[in-house]
Amino acid sequence: MEFNIITNNPEETRKLGKKISVLVQPGDLFAFYGELGVGKTCFIQGICYGLGVKEGVNSPSFTLINEYQGKIPIYHFDLFRLNGIDEFLDLGYEEYFYGKGLTVIEWAGKIEGFLPPDYLKIEINSVSYYQRRIIFKSTQKKYQVLIKE
Ligand SMILES: Nc1ncnc2c1ncn2[C@@H]1O[C@H](COP(=O)(O)OP(=O)(O)O)[C@@H](O)[C@H]1O
Ligand SMILES: [Mg+2]
Repeated sequence: MEFNIITNNPEETRKLGKKISVLVQPGDLFAFYGELGVGKTCFIQGICYGLGVKEGVNSPSFTLINEYQGKIPIYHFDLFRLNGIDEFLDLGYEEYFYGKGLTVIEWAGKIEGFLPPDYLKIEINSVSYYQRRIIFKSTQKKYQVLIKE
């Protein structure tokens, strides 16, 4: 199942993230795809804001993962700077992916083989300077319900 929507500015992208945050369940995993600067972090900021995270949410520059505390824990992976799969395996990803928080992953394509069978794919593409097409995809019932809502 697939659904796509256009946002016209960063604020709309954040709002969409916030909207989705109310549908998040503990243990969910959202895998983000899209080039540098398309708005993956922006979308994640909206989700975190909606989940009541008080601290600033940015792409971690020197770490591959940031953890925030909201209504549930949020594990924010940014694998842009990942140098090889060993570095990823050293993070102990299972604890996050199969834990009780929400996992969000930027550059999920780099670790595709390690994603669980059920996850929500969120692909962002630039349409123009301020327009983004955000595509939600999942083959799993749980996320299809989320997409529908
Ligand atoms: N519709 C939009 N949605 C999200 N970001 C947008 C949009 N239009 C312009 N931008 C800009 O694109 C950039 C997205 O940055 P960021 O969220 O850090 O991207 P990524 O995490 O994908 O590298 C920001 O500078 C933001 O202001
Ligand atoms: Mg980012």
